[in-house]
Amino acid sequence: MSTLSILHKLKLRRSATKQSITKFYDEATEDYQFWSNDFNMHFGYYIPFKTNLFKRDSMLNEMNNQVFSRLNMPKKDSLVIDLGCGIGGTMRYGLRKYPLLRIIGITLSKFQVKEGNKRLNNMNGLILEENYEHTFFKNDSVDGAYAIESLCHSGHSYKSLKEAYRILKTKSRLVITDAFLKKDENQLCPGSSYCYDQLCSGWSLEGLGSIHKVKQNLEEIGFKNIRIEDVSHRVAPSVLHVPFAITGFIFKKLFRKEYLKPQSWKNLKGSLFALLSGLHIKSFGYYIITAEK
Ligand SMILES: C[S@@+](CC[C@H](N)C(=O)[O-])C[C@H]1O[C@@H](n2cnc3c(N)ncnc32)[C@H](O)[C@@H]1O
Repeated sequence: MSTLSILHKLKLRRSATKQSITKFYDEATEDYQFWSNDFNMHFGYYIPFKTNLFKRDSMLNEMNNQVFSRLNMPKKDSLVIDLGCGIGGTMRYGLRKYPLLRIIGITLSKFQVKEGNKRLNNMNGLILEENYEHTFFKNDSVDGAYAIESLCHSGHSYKSLKEAYRILKTKSRLVITDAFLKKDENQLCPGSSYCYDQLCSGWSLEGLGSIHKVKQNLEEIGFKNIRIEDVSHRVAPSVLHVPFAITGFIFKKLFRKEYLKPQSWKNLKGSLFALLSGLHIKSFGYYIITAEK
């Protein structure tokens, strides 16, 4: 491969600056209502006879349930941090289920702070504009933290994992749910590599961490009892909703004679390539990671 094409690839992938992520979510967050009435900005978790294959939100909310059950914390007065909280869909789920919990969500998007906080009115939750790689929380101050499809924006960076470790109290847990690479970036076949580039540029992702490297980083940082579950088969049914959701979204816009904003196009591209990447099962997987400080 020529140096020029390598540079081009790197440029595509490394486009996830703080500004590009903020712009993406300030403009495209509203579109997610089409994906989830509860404003879950993530994929779902399918359990036969518990969740409904045809009701997307039942699977998306089950993902929330899976996260909270792994946090496994004393419920009263515990403080939980949502690292990359979107518009607070998961926070609302957690606060409804565990009313004595306090949850602080952080996001880069001002739009999400404003709209999310409106929806958290009268609940024990608050959304703040903060960077999960460098937060204002004190050392050893929180009882649990989770990150649902948010750390991918920083390539599951060492810095973000270390920051989570810093703020957690001893024996408390970090739960991450996200897509990861099963091998190193440079080992991807051309098809996977193309889908990966398009996914990253569409959704303003720095990249996906390789699952082995992320585990190694967690260990190096000091996390213990690290459990890594490949839940790709549980997530697949909700990923298969993508083409229907995209088609419905475009038809609705056309019908209303509304124009598609540039960030909405990017979102659609990201969604489509998430589906196509998911088909490359040797390269990509969806995991739930639970780690204890
Ligand atoms: C795909 S959304 C997921 C939102 C939410 N976790 C959910 O599942 O509904 C990704 C979120 O990560 C946030 N994010 C990305 N990079 C961030 C950073 N460096 N610091 C804080 N939040 C970040 C975005 O602002 C957005 O809210």
